[in-house]
Amino acid sequence: MLGRVNHVAIAVPDLASAAASYRATLGATVTEPQALPEHGVTVVFVTLPNTKVELLEPLGETSPIAAFLAKNPSGGMHHICYEVEDILAARDALKASGARVLGDGEPKIGAHGKPVLFLHPKDFQGTLIELEQV
Ligand code: CO
Repeated sequence: MLGRVNHVAIAVPDLASAAASYRATLGATVTEPQALPEHGVTVVFVTLPNTKVELLEPLGETSPIAAFLAKNPSGGMHHICYEVEDILAARDALKASGARVLGDGEPKIGAHGKPVLFLHPKDFQGTLIELEQV
């Protein structure tokens, strides 16, 4: 079911400062900020030779990462995103095996303009998993 790691996501309290530290201190290429109101986050991507790192900052009053940052005030690893070929087939197979899909179970359009879903961290070793159809 799983393809490549598309990205690893890190929640941060200050996106500008995090992007600057990846650019200046780590010498990485970082994309411009992209607001995703439907997901309650603003993101940038650190582009690496083999994958990407997504830096996430809360957007709006009801951001899904606000509680995470309250527990991890300096930021921390938030999710890992795996690529799948067919997100609806993956969702149906996962649900049939008892895994919980977050939200209403319908894919939303993610930061790359492709459908994404999130899986409950308690079903996967305490790690929030994002699936992205590629
Ligand atoms: Co992501």
